[in-house]
Amino acid sequence: MLAQLPPMGWNSWNTFGDKINEEVVCAAADKIVELGLDKVGYKYVVIDDCWSLRERDPETGKIVADPAKFPHGMKYVADYIHSKGLLFGMYSCDGVRTCANFPASFDHEFLDARTFAEFGIDFLKYDNCFKPASAPGELLYRRMGQALRLSGREILFSACNWGAENVWSWIRSTGAHMFRSTGDIFDNFVSFRDIFLSQLDKFNTSAPGCWNDIDMLTVGMFGNGNVGTSGCTKDEYYTQFSLWCMASAPLMLGCDIRKIDPEMLALVKNPELLAIDQDPEGRPPFRVGGPVWTGGDPKNGVTLAKLLSGGDIAIAMYNFGDAPRAVDFFTETMGLPAASGWKLKMKDCVTGEVIGPVSEYVRLEGFAPHSCRVFRATPVRA
Ligand code: GLA
Repeated sequence: MLAQLPPMGWNSWNTFGDKINEEVVCAAADKIVELGLDKVGYKYVVIDDCWSLRERDPETGKIVADPAKFPHGMKYVADYIHSKGLLFGMYSCDGVRTCANFPASFDHEFLDARTFAEFGIDFLKYDNCFKPASAPGELLYRRMGQALRLSGREILFSACNWGAENVWSWIRSTGAHMFRSTGDIFDNFVSFRDIFLSQLDKFNTSAPGCWNDIDMLTVGMFGNGNVGTSGCTKDEYYTQFSLWCMASAPLMLGCDIRKIDPEMLALVKNPELLAIDQDPEGRPPFRVGGPVWTGGDPKNGVTLAKLLSGGDIAIAMYNFGDAPRAVDFFTETMGLPAASGWKLKMKDCVTGEVIGPVSEYVRLEGFAPHSCRVFRATPVRA
């Protein structure tokens, strides 16, 4: 079964936008292997929008790779990526044009799925621009879902309709393996905080086989590239990455991995955080506390808990505010009141520091603005 766990990989859009070509994609694949990112799960190398010529081939009706960008064609790129032990993803759209105004798959779904299968793809991101108003998104995603299932290749279907048309209520039924639930991410703190918070009450339907995709990561971009805006600090990238892990979100790196900062590389390879993201049960996070004396607005921060397989609990504490704060949580809100006799032994996922056993009410001081701490907590009878 595909997408038993949240898919992981790299996507060209955040950094390269339309400046995508064979050299960049093959170099990204080389680097994924050189940095050992494949060994920890980053397998998909995905080319986003802007890979084709502006019009279909008039004779065959097929979408054609732009020979100036991909001089050896897409099959060559697929073979190269596969030779590295990685998987290859491409992009199309359910409307008549892609978001960047290239040909898209409306009314060509079965031909395009076959073409993609001939290229040798393993993943298709399917966007939602220029969709005729007469066509419901549910029907169009169902159509491409069938076209991929019948294409003769096993292809992960990555739907991207930005949360339109109440996507949560029907997307699993289309065969999609992940679905973008929000508008586009930009490389700044407010963008990723608000994307995450907009889905906090919607992760309950994200589960093995079809995951809520809160967009490609901007970790390590530092304001550079296509969606680079003000950029983020290292603390903010830790916050972003851990939010994605708490959400069991797909982890698609978006930075220029050819030049990734060593601390950011360590962050995206952190085994404790990845274990939270890739926990096989894929249970949703829920609120158990937050920054002290800030009135409870989640925009100021939250403490989240997530039940993990085997009995542990991930606890992530966030200060989203602009001043240093204490952050708290109540074990009662996790279903563990003090009278249960259970306490929590908490291990910091980054520093390894052990706190506790604790129970009832926990308050940790000194969270810098936009920072977090993430723990793996084990219930003990101490
Ligand atoms: C939309 C998607 C982005 C990206 C661009 C490409 O905006 O949401 O993730 O694929 O299109 O044009």
